[in-house]
Amino acid sequence: MNNVEKVCQFLDDAGVYFLATADGDQPRVRAFGTSLVSGGKLYIQTGKVKPVSRQIAANPKVELCAYKDGRWLRVTGELVNDEDRAVKVAMLEKMPSLKAMYDPDDGNMQMLYFKNATATFSSFTEAPETVSF
Ligand SMILES: Cc1cc2nc3c(=O)[nH]c(=O)nc-3n(C[C@H](O)[C@H](O)[C@H](O)COP(=O)(O)O)c2cc1C
Repeated sequence: MNNVEKVCQFLDDAGVYFLATADGDQPRVRAFGTSLVSGGKLYIQTGKVKPVSRQIAANPKVELCAYKDGRWLRVTGELVNDEDRAVKVAMLEKMPSLKAMYDPDDGNMQMLYFKNATATFSSFTEAPETVSF
């Protein structure tokens, strides 16, 4: 597994992660669960109608945190919008429950990938491991 795949695997295993955005000078955080590796990039998914999407458009710098079995992961980076239809299809195939809410052609479904990302795996017992992608 490469670094991006390792990060995605952790997010999948955790099931839920928390995504922080900046809304002006007000931090916002919410639960997310979508993750996908495509073309060597780590993607997450949202809806363009959501405040989170508007916040990312205004300021693409985000951070997420996930926790599982005594280990936690923090990913810091910028999110880039990607309108590639194949990536949207791949997301819906990986997480079919999304099909109840999203369609690749609905004008709402949004795929975002990380650039300039730093991911740190931590635990109380081992030294942190940091990877970039
Ligand atoms: C477990 C869980 C996972 C979720 N995963 C996502 C997700 O991957 N993408 C998304 O847009 N919303 C997801 N949501 C819903 C968002 O948390 C919710 O729409 C939130 O209000 C979005 O933030 P905003 O109101 O600041 O836009 C999830 C909710 C839960 C409880």
